[in-house]
Amino acid sequence: MAAGVVDEAGRVLERSQVPTPSHDPKAVEDAIVDAVERLRERHRVEAVGIGAAGWVDNTQSVVRFSPHLAWRDEPLRAALAQRINLPTIVDNDANAAAWAEYRFGAGAGSSVMVCLTLGTGIGGGLVINGELFRGTYGMAGEWGHMTKVPGGHWCECGNRGCWEQYASGNALVREARALLASDGPGADTLRTSLGVVPEAVSGPHVTAAAMAGDPVAVALLADVGTWLGLGIADVVAGLDPEVVVIGGGVSAAGELLVGPAREAFQATLSGRGFRAYARLELARFRNDAGLVGAADLARRALQEPPNSA
Ligand code: BGC
Ligand code: NA
Ligand code: ZN
Repeated sequence: MAAGVVDEAGRVLERSQVPTPSHDPKAVEDAIVDAVERLRERHRVEAVGIGAAGWVDNTQSVVRFSPHLAWRDEPLRAALAQRINLPTIVDNDANAAAWAEYRFGAGAGSSVMVCLTLGTGIGGGLVINGELFRGTYGMAGEWGHMTKVPGGHWCECGNRGCWEQYASGNALVREARALLASDGPGADTLRTSLGVVPEAVSGPHVTAAAMAGDPVAVALLADVGTWLGLGIADVVAGLDPEVVVIGGGVSAAGELLVGPAREAFQATLSGRGFRAYARLELARFRNDAGLVGAADLARRALQEPPNSA
């Protein structure tokens, strides 16, 4: 869970990070309050924006569901309002990231912008003509749960074969571990360059190994990139955006991820050869986009408060 103090130009003045207590909504709430209290000691904070990894309702208050956290109909804004004496809004984490990239980053000035964040899952956000598009009930942009592989890997959303099971940090880690467990020739090389036991492997380990030139790690990232590109072709077929911004932890791999993604996207987009391709860009704020965007959304809500709930 990342927290930060962000000024009106989108600059992060101070930040903090703690592991998310993922199985206990009350502990998540405590961690949020704690982070806000600490950061407030040194800055004049006017509003608080939360980018929550889940499906937030259209009043920007209630997290209806989260595949990766324990939130189920969680009245997060009301709970926080009682403890933080500041105007507070809750939005989806990827919506917040999309907003940051539109306002200050890789999607600035674009007419239709899609933002995808690759971390635990795939987050999605959509900005159309300068407005964040939330759908009717607040839950637009959940492309991570499109079925890409019928009967494929189980997803924490309850379905099988979701896109995020193939193109995310979790997918990268699962595949790295499976490869190590296979004990094939590639496993030896990878084991040496990762330098940790399989249970301790994380996305950043694989990315670091790939950046240091390990061909197996490069291939693992390329697989994730290819799946990413295949899904982007679907999203682009539906929305015809100008730019697709790619952020989240896995985007630290840069071209090792986006290169294969671009290739798969351009090779499979329907109508290819007879149309322009949306640009694929790395997020300017990388993993900070969510907190920058959540802050800006909170600042905007001071002018135009969301509906109550
Ligand atoms: C959730 C999204 C969230 C994304 C990134 C997905 O699994 O469904 O709501 O934005 O993960 O955290
Ligand atoms: Na979203
Ligand atoms: Zn799913």
